[in-house]
Amino acid sequence: MKSFISTLSILFLLSLLLLPGCASLSSSQTETIEGNLAIAPLPATMQAGSGFLVIDEKMKILTNIKDFPHFDPFKVFNELFQRKSGYALPYLHDKSALKDSSHLIKVTLVYNNYNIESYNLKIKSSGILIVAGSELGVFYAMQTLRQIMRLDAVPDSKGSQRHWSIPLVDISDAPRFTYRGMHLDVCRHFMPVEFVKKYIDLLAYYKMNYFHWHLTDDQGWRIEIKKYPKLQEVAAYRDETLIGRFGEKPPRYDGTRYGGYYTQEEIKDVVSYASDRAVTIIPEIEMPGHCLAALAAYPELACSAGPFKTATTWGVFKDVFCPEDSTFVFLENVLDEVLTLFPSRYIHIGGDEVVKTSWEQSDFCKDLMKKEGLNNSKELQSYFIQRIEKYLNAKGKTIIGWDEILEGGIAPNATIMSWRGIQGGIDAAKAGHDAIMTPGGYCYFDHYQGDRETEPLAIGGFTPLDKVYAYDPVPAELSEAEARHILGAQGNLWTEYIDSPEKAEYMAYPRAIALAEVLWTPVDRKNWDEFSVRLKQHLDRLDGMGVHYAKK
Ligand code: ACM
Repeated sequence: MKSFISTLSILFLLSLLLLPGCASLSSSQTETIEGNLAIAPLPATMQAGSGFLVIDEKMKILTNIKDFPHFDPFKVFNELFQRKSGYALPYLHDKSALKDSSHLIKVTLVYNNYNIESYNLKIKSSGILIVAGSELGVFYAMQTLRQIMRLDAVPDSKGSQRHWSIPLVDISDAPRFTYRGMHLDVCRHFMPVEFVKKYIDLLAYYKMNYFHWHLTDDQGWRIEIKKYPKLQEVAAYRDETLIGRFGEKPPRYDGTRYGGYYTQEEIKDVVSYASDRAVTIIPEIEMPGHCLAALAAYPELACSAGPFKTATTWGVFKDVFCPEDSTFVFLENVLDEVLTLFPSRYIHIGGDEVVKTSWEQSDFCKDLMKKEGLNNSKELQSYFIQRIEKYLNAKGKTIIGWDEILEGGIAPNATIMSWRGIQGGIDAAKAGHDAIMTPGGYCYFDHYQGDRETEPLAIGGFTPLDKVYAYDPVPAELSEAEARHILGAQGNLWTEYIDSPEKAEYMAYPRAIALAEVLWTPVDRKNWDEFSVRLKQHLDRLDGMGVHYAKK
């Protein structure tokens, strides 16, 4: 076996000589098929073959999928492949027209309800066989092939590399978790559409399937809502922005108006772009707190007296939505427009860090609590969330809320996002609710990842790459049945101290790769040292993709 692997290694190294743009590998990296191919997240099983397949102009995709009415699993690969090689791989549906059954990427769907994301990718000297549980599995097989070919490490120069020699391998793969996510806060700092697309591209490359788009907060409202023009005119902008660290005395401001929002056309474009990449976008509309920007536009939605201004600094603010009927009409109208843009089954309604003093001081709230039999303001928050849940459930949607929505009694069908540690996830799972784990100590990528003295300003914390890699989203306290409610985990990127796309990439990468492996790879296949070897090659690929990741 060992000599077979080293023969493979020599052949592989020889093949690299044929591959311009490939990073050369040190001998320690070439001892295993895992190190050779450097696929991340690491597939569930990999078996090395002996020899190579050449992909050239003769290669075609043969599939039993007639059309792809909703999702074409080859589109992203083929667009990239065309950019790198100067030609695309044509699709065939009918094998009988073929004289020669070699030079095929032959795709068979075996619909598999158990794991629709599973695939088997067999690279043989005569061609490639893909058997997958659905189009999603085919998509992930093509992302794996993209990594094996190192398409991303090769410069974009049409026709510069027409022939690709890749080692033979048999991979069977499926994700450990169904929810593999990354979040992006575009309120504290706005991120342009082109960057959001690049962020989604990387999620797909690392087989992540959810993008949580944090669209509304105290410091800005970033989604166009046609019924409420002041959300665009007022709530999307703030007068200025805090400079330096929150809490410094005296605070300093930049004196520059700041803001922006995504038009509905832009959002549709991003949703469609994500859908081509098997990424579902979950929009977050924050309520009943983190809404100062909306109150600046529509102060009548608060229990406290305005006027209000879109926040210019960070932290938690005391003015929140009042649970009056008119507020629910506003939020339902907003959500109606949101639902026309986002096909996601999940809608995130926030629910975190709600300061309840304005409710506790409000005669309206006191009367409402009496009428509804609510004992305290936490139960009033549950009333708020449950009323919104009912509205969204009736439209076929499931709400996700931050773990505070557990406090006054959980909404009947809510999924919990556990951020203040893991207890929220444990409580939710024990109560029979689904949970997504985003505990600050492992999943907050706005935290420092290295020495504070030399790292750029961050919010605090210390979440280095190896800590992220070591994370296991399933709390030990849960029984097997309860653990099935842990859908997965998500990396969160809050942007108080992240004021540019470059810094966002610096904070997210490579930590997001470690999290992707936590979420995809069978737990007994995880190995930090081996991951570190593969990661080196991924940093070259990130360079090829123009990603400003954190270099150690
Ligand atoms: C949060 O970080 N406030 C969810």
